[in-house]
Amino acid sequence: MRQARIGIFLIFLLCLNLVQSNFLSFLQASDSLKDAFQGKFKIGTSVSPNELSYGTDFIKKHFNSITPENELKPDSILDQTGSQQSGNNVNPKVSFRSGTQTTLRFCEQNKIPLRGHTFVWHAQTPEWFFKENFQQSGNFVSKDIMNQRLENFIKNTFELLKKDYPQLEVYAYDVCNEVFQGGGGGLRPASESKWMQVYGSDEYIVNAFTYARKYAPSGCKLYINDFNEYMNAKTQNIYDMATKLKQKGVIDGIGMQSHLGVSFPSAQMYASALDKFASTGLEVQITELDINQEGNEQAQASLYKEVFSAAVKHANQIPAVTLWGTHDAVSWIKDKNPLPFGTNYELKKAYYSIMQVAGA
Ligand code: XIL
Repeated sequence: MRQARIGIFLIFLLCLNLVQSNFLSFLQASDSLKDAFQGKFKIGTSVSPNELSYGTDFIKKHFNSITPENELKPDSILDQTGSQQSGNNVNPKVSFRSGTQTTLRFCEQNKIPLRGHTFVWHAQTPEWFFKENFQQSGNFVSKDIMNQRLENFIKNTFELLKKDYPQLEVYAYDVCNEVFQGGGGGLRPASESKWMQVYGSDEYIVNAFTYARKYAPSGCKLYINDFNEYMNAKTQNIYDMATKLKQKGVIDGIGMQSHLGVSFPSAQMYASALDKFASTGLEVQITELDINQEGNEQAQASLYKEVFSAAVKHANQIPAVTLWGTHDAVSWIKDKNPLPFGTNYELKKAYYSIMQVAGA
């Protein structure tokens, strides 16, 4: 009798131990963002090369998609001297400087898929790219010349990526970024965009996607990306353009930058924009998520939760949700404490609320 009791007690201890270790391993597995959302979508972050000298363990733990924060933008990869020296007015030279190399090498070596950002943008694009002989002070080139430059820019970039980083998985690319006016109401005017100055219509957008489709590696999905995407007029602009490009078969997805604040937009407004984009049948990615805390960490956590919940509802159309920065200290708007990880990588309320969505 006594032996039986001891036996039962030992079995009880064994069970307790099993429960505990399962519980612990559950906790351990689920404290990584990317692991928690496995099977739903990738969790991405933007990365700047600086951080790769000290923050790689953290990045590898939480993220399985990377967007170079600045290192693939036109002003980072277009090479003015090289373009001029080529003596060819239509073939801009692309080269990767050390920051770009560091980022791409990190992704390739660690097998982290890359979101490319970006080809056509009114900002961070050198003026000489639009001018005769690639000279800062020259005249603007014709539409015909610009078409050839645009095609070669895209072609050269994809070729260089393939040549220098053959194992790198480039799974998505923002072909066009922020082509619409701030709150919507149509395309950015010539006074704001050199693209519009040369073309005067949406032709540069259609052409950019057509060229990207021609040269992008297989599996690389092509995106139109924008901010204030939840404001009605802008939602409609993006929806209409995406639909037009879809009819031509040259687009795969809509990128919602998602630079939000706790007081605007409402979760409902954001979710209805996401619903509308998803109704195109295209993929949707949340590409640059951050939320201005406005002194209210709890409200920030709530909005993060709503955004991730909305994304989970459309998980079958959403390949990735990307945070714009790894933690508050490196955010482009760091005074707004916009990320789920704090200045010293500490876990904020937002982190826990996001994890709740993953576990739900
Ligand atoms: C920002 C970067 O985070 C900053 O480092 C840079 O100085 C300016 O650009 N929308 C975009 C991103 O598409 O490329 C911007 O990134 C943030 C807004």
